[in-house]
Amino acid sequence: MKLRFDYNNMMADVIGDRGIDAGKLGENAGKIGAAFEDVLANCGKGWQEWSELPYIDYSSLDGMIAKMSEIRKKASAFVVLGIGGSALGPISVVQALLDMRLNEQPASALKSAGLPKLYIEDNIDPERMHGLLGLIDLKTTYFNVITKSGETSETLAQFLVLYDLMKKAVGKEEARKHFIATTTIGKGTLYALAQKEGFDTYGIGPGVGGRFSVLSNVGLVPFAVMGIDIKKLLAGAKEMSEACRVSDVKKNPALMTAFLQCMAMEKGANISVMMPYADSLKYMSDFYCQIWAESLGKAKDKDGKTVNVGQTPAKALGVTDQHSQVQLYTEGPYDKVVTFLAVDKFRNDVAIPSDPDIDACDFLKGHTMGELLNAERVATEYALRKAGRMSFTVTLPEVNEETVGELLAYYMYETAFAGAYLNIDTFNQPGVEEGKKATFAMLGRKGYEEKLAEVRSAAKKPEYYI
Ligand code: PA5
Repeated sequence: MKLRFDYNNMMADVIGDRGIDAGKLGENAGKIGAAFEDVLANCGKGWQEWSELPYIDYSSLDGMIAKMSEIRKKASAFVVLGIGGSALGPISVVQALLDMRLNEQPASALKSAGLPKLYIEDNIDPERMHGLLGLIDLKTTYFNVITKSGETSETLAQFLVLYDLMKKAVGKEEARKHFIATTTIGKGTLYALAQKEGFDTYGIGPGVGGRFSVLSNVGLVPFAVMGIDIKKLLAGAKEMSEACRVSDVKKNPALMTAFLQCMAMEKGANISVMMPYADSLKYMSDFYCQIWAESLGKAKDKDGKTVNVGQTPAKALGVTDQHSQVQLYTEGPYDKVVTFLAVDKFRNDVAIPSDPDIDACDFLKGHTMGELLNAERVATEYALRKAGRMSFTVTLPEVNEETVGELLAYYMYETAFAGAYLNIDTFNQPGVEEGKKATFAMLGRKGYEEKLAEVRSAAKKPEYYI
C-alpha cells in the first residue's frame, strides 16, 4: 500500500477532550470486529460485487482497451452522459490523471498527445447542453451513455437529444457507431435501445451499485478511451483491498477511519469535510460526498428501528478554502471531522523565483509552489489541532493510476465498514428512488399514474406562498 494514514489529530491524547479516547478502540472491539466480518463475509456477494472488481483477470480487458484506443484515434471529442454514480467516479479519476486543462489545449497539442477533448455531462441544464453543442463537431464526437438502471430520466433525455442530432448530422447507419452504452445487460430501457440500434454495449454487474461502480465498465470504458492505464488503476485498488481485508483495526486504514468517523458522530461531529490539497484531487471530494451521503444517510437500521443516521459530507479545497471556510472549521461548532488529502510530490512543480527588488517576499525565495501548498496544509492541520478539532490526513506519495486506485478502494471499504458498524443497509438508496419515481410520474410515464396522484395530493397551503 502506497497511501499513508495519519489519524493522530482524531485522538483525545493529541487534541484534547473533543477527540476520541484511545480506550474506545478496546471498548468497541466486538462491534468493530462484527462490522469487519460482515463486510468481509459479503465480499463478492449481493451488492458487494464491487469488491471483486480489482481481482478480475486483467487480460479480459484487452479487447475493450483495443476498441477504445480506436475511438481515441478518431475522436475530436468524447462525451460521457450519466449522473450520480455513473458520472462522479469518472469525473474524479479523469481530473486526477489527465491534464486538468486538457480541453483548453489547442487542437494541434491534442493531436500530438493523441487525445480527444473530454466532457462528462452530469446535469441536464439546457444552457450547458446548448454550450456543449456549440463546442463539438458531431461528425468526430463519440458518446458513452452510462446508466446502471437504464432508466434514469436525465441520462435518457441527454441521449435522446444527442442521438437525434447525430442521426441528422451523419445519418442513422453512421450515428449508431458514435454511441457506446454502459448498462445492466438484459435489463432496462437503455439496454433495449442499444440492442435495437446496435450500439457497442458494455455491462455493469448486477451487484455493482452506481456509487460503487467506478472500477467497473462505468469508469474503465471512458478511462480506456482517454489512454488511462486501467490495469494499474485496478492493481492499486487491489493493493488497498488487501490492506482493507486485514482484521487488525490498527493495520486496516478503512476500518480504522470508519470507526473513528462513527465515534466522531457519537460526539456530535455530523459533518465530514473532504479537503484535498491538490487540484488534481478536487473531484475526489464529489466522489466521496456521494458515496458517504447516499450510503450512510438512512432512516432505518437493519432491524427496522428508526435511526435517521448519517454524517453530512462537505467539500473544501486546499488552499482555496483556507480563505473561505477554515475560519469556521477552527472556531465554529465542534461538529466536523476534516479529512486532508495530501500529495508528497507533484508531477510538475514550479519554483518561486527571488526578486531582489521585493524584499518582503524573501521568505518565499527558493521554495516551490508545491512546497508552499504542503506547508499551508501542515499549517492548517496544526491550526485545527491547536483548536482541538478532529482531522486526519491521507497522503498519496504522488497522484498516479496506482494511488488513485488505492484511494477509490479505500473510500469504498471505509463506507462499507461504517455502514456495517451503524447496522444500516449501505447499498440501497430509497430516497433517491423516490425522487426518480416522482419525476417519471410528473412527466407522464405510463404506469406511474398513482404516483402522480400522490405527488399532486401532497398538501400545499396557499398562505405559504409569496
Ligand atoms: O449510487 C447510485 O445508485 C445512484 O446515485 C445512481 O448512480 C444514480 O442515481 C444514477 O443511476 P443510473 O446509473 O441507474 O442512471
